[in-house]
Amino acid sequence: MAEPSNDLLLDVRDLAVHFPIKRGLVLDRTVGYVYAVDGVSLQVRRGETYGLVGESGCGKSTLGRAILRLVDPTAGTVEFDGVDVAQLAGERLRTMRRRFQMVFQDPMSSLDPRQSVESMLLEGIKAHGLSRGPEADSDRLRELVGAVGLPASALRRYPHEFSGGQRQRLGIARALSVEPDLIVADEPVSALDVSVQAQVLNLLGRLQADLGLTYLVIAHDLAVVRHVSDRIGVMYLGGIVEEAPSQALYDDPQHPYTKALLSAIPVPDPELEDQRERILLTGDLPSPAAPPQGCRFHTRCPWRQPTRCDSERPELRVIPGGPDGHRVACHWAEEIRSGALQPHRVEPAAVADDVLGPGAVPEHPGSVTEILGR
Ligand SMILES: Nc1ncnc2c1ncn2[C@@H]1O[C@H](COP(=O)(O)OP(=O)(O)OP(=O)(O)O)[C@@H](O)[C@H]1O
Ligand code: SF4
Ligand SMILES: [Mg+2]
Repeated sequence: MAEPSNDLLLDVRDLAVHFPIKRGLVLDRTVGYVYAVDGVSLQVRRGETYGLVGESGCGKSTLGRAILRLVDPTAGTVEFDGVDVAQLAGERLRTMRRRFQMVFQDPMSSLDPRQSVESMLLEGIKAHGLSRGPEADSDRLRELVGAVGLPASALRRYPHEFSGGQRQRLGIARALSVEPDLIVADEPVSALDVSVQAQVLNLLGRLQADLGLTYLVIAHDLAVVRHVSDRIGVMYLGGIVEEAPSQALYDDPQHPYTKALLSAIPVPDPELEDQRERILLTGDLPSPAAPPQGCRFHTRCPWRQPTRCDSERPELRVIPGGPDGHRVACHWAEEIRSGALQPHRVEPAAVADDVLGPGAVPEHPGSVTEILGR
């Protein structure tokens, strides 16, 4: 992790992405929306790594894509280096796009199998007007593959000739080829063997230190984001419920959902493991097409109260007297922190499978996390 500066590179305010759900013979009627991202504000400083974590389907990828203008936001603003990205079009958007790049989970699906590494990297460089003539370009390509730990001979090869870890290195080289400021890495190591994961994460860290990059790293695996992030945002059903410096989030989680997520991870020390408070969440993740009113987490929250929780959506806020740099979206964060409120049993609420009736597409099965409910 590099030392982040104080100036903002990315400033996201009240961002929403609602996907229409269509029905009818020619899918001509909008019968509802998937509230994939619903009111997210986050700021990322230059040189910082911001980790985004949450269960499958909570909206992490959609948020990443909306930030890069790969999907159009329904509402809200995304300012990149002081410029509102939503207002850009044509050449100005294209120029801006060079400055933010994405690294995907499955590099194979984003690499063209018929293109050699050399031609793939050159394509990006030329498309963004960064070509400096054949000789300088050739030096640059060698430098790029070298930077991601591959030999110069890799340039003549094709994606299928590489292992998964090497392909992810190529994905990173491609992102780097256009000299970006921000890289959004969406599950960058989820498809890799555990032994290779650390190598790729270390590579990302080294490149950040060398090149002053800013990262938004998306992962469902808490260990991955913890390892690389300066700060972490925890997402639940389209919103950020807690945000804190990485270590502080793990040492002293404030939001009931974060507490539950962390309590489900075994710790290596058997004595500590025995003493730990386990918070098991009951009930499935509600569908993002029919998110609960009020606090989105109230259907599963062991601290839920009869007032406010099911009627008023809590804002992400600093808790007065709470830990530094923590922001929490819970009405009762102070009382939970002081111990004045204790967790209680939650009756699992039924989650409707088919909230919009037959024939509505796309379908959104309420997904259950790999971590929760273990
Ligand atoms: N193009 C789309 N059209 C309609 N619904 C979509 C679209 N893309 C995503 N969704 C829905 O939006 C919700 C959020 O999806 P998203 O892929 O952002 O979640 P995620 O947190 O990245 O999940 P995962 O960890 O499984 O990758 C899901 O219910 C998903 O089905
Ligand atoms: S607002 Fe209520 S339901 Fe939501 S996390 Fe806090 S206590 Fe739980
Ligand atoms: Mg995703």
